[in-house]
Amino acid sequence: MTLNDSAFLQACRGQRPAHTPVWFMRQAGRSLPEYLALREGTAMLESCFRTDMVVEITMQPVRRYGVDAAIFFSDIVVPLKAIGVDLDIVPGTGPVVAEPVRSWAQLDQFRDIDADDVTPITDAVKALVGELGSTPLIGFAGAPFTLASYLVEGGPSRDHRLTKQLMYSDPQLWHALLGRIAAIAGQFLRLQVEAGASAVQLFDSWAGALSLADYDTYVKPHSAAVLASVADLGVPRIHFGVGTGELLHSMGDAGADVVGVDWRVPLDEAVRRVGPGRAVQGNLDPTAVFAPTEFVHARAAEVLEAGRSAEGHIFNLGHGVLPATDPDALARLVDFVHEYDVS
Ligand code: CP3
Repeated sequence: MTLNDSAFLQACRGQRPAHTPVWFMRQAGRSLPEYLALREGTAMLESCFRTDMVVEITMQPVRRYGVDAAIFFSDIVVPLKAIGVDLDIVPGTGPVVAEPVRSWAQLDQFRDIDADDVTPITDAVKALVGELGSTPLIGFAGAPFTLASYLVEGGPSRDHRLTKQLMYSDPQLWHALLGRIAAIAGQFLRLQVEAGASAVQLFDSWAGALSLADYDTYVKPHSAAVLASVADLGVPRIHFGVGTGELLHSMGDAGADVVGVDWRVPLDEAVRRVGPGRAVQGNLDPTAVFAPTEFVHARAAEVLEAGRSAEGHIFNLGHGVLPATDPDALARLVDFVHEYDVS
């Protein structure tokens, strides 16, 4: 098997490979003892700029689970950190921004990424591509809305109140901010693909906080700009968000080849909403893997059956692996998906 006809890339292109490919969002870290041991004493963002750690952590879930794709170990705020935005990732909280961005004067800091800003990261991609062989590497970036939410709120938010306040009350500033973030996200994806990544995923994790009308007006053009900016590279583009049942068609229409689906919408219904010409990725509830194995496998079978109606289906959880997840449950799930006959 070569990289180009790996099950993952085939499914991204809308083909039906011999087995359903599977990987897990947030597979690189958190629930793995070998990850926790390696991260001991190194801050999250520091580890994202250490080539050796990025390579090792990215490989850990591939070795342990035999998943069909690796996701690059990094974080959505890494490109912002690389251009000098003052932020940190606080354990148990997430990204925290020193000076929340709410004015025109603050836009100057969102300069373009220079290749030199991210050398340890592109070096890691290059090393990984060699080590992974025929297993594809997925590069990723945060989508403009999700990144803007952290920047405007100053940290994680339940209701995204300040973000939406800015969006509704100063649309010009909003569009200027998202335009800058979109350019940076696009540059970060391009650097990863040029270093050897085989696919990209644009995470708009918090887009589900928006109505379809607001998504289309305030967000979609900027996500579309990111996806369009890497179209010439010819790699599959996956677009994912949480709670995005009402947005699935629009997120696909933003320029995705694959639409990621959370666990709230049955996958066959998601396929109808996304429409023809795109593959889907998902969507087992990440809490399901805490149940007895028979239950997990019954639910996984439902996802696989629903996925038959898709032009291409990549099995995943409906959101990231929860930190308390038993790695053995994920290992059994990978085997189950690989052995399940969808021909
Ligand atoms: O899939 C992978 O494992 C690859 C690595 C990855 C991380 N973050 C590593 C990480 C990926 C793809 C991300 C993306 C990311 N980061 C998203 C989009 C995906 C999603 O889950 O919706 C978002 C919203 C973030 C922002 C962020 N960074 C959050 C919410 C958190 C969790 C805070 C916490 O501790 O609960 C982080 C930190 C983070 N990113 C960790 C990891 C492994 C945990 C840091 C640690 O181990 O101390």
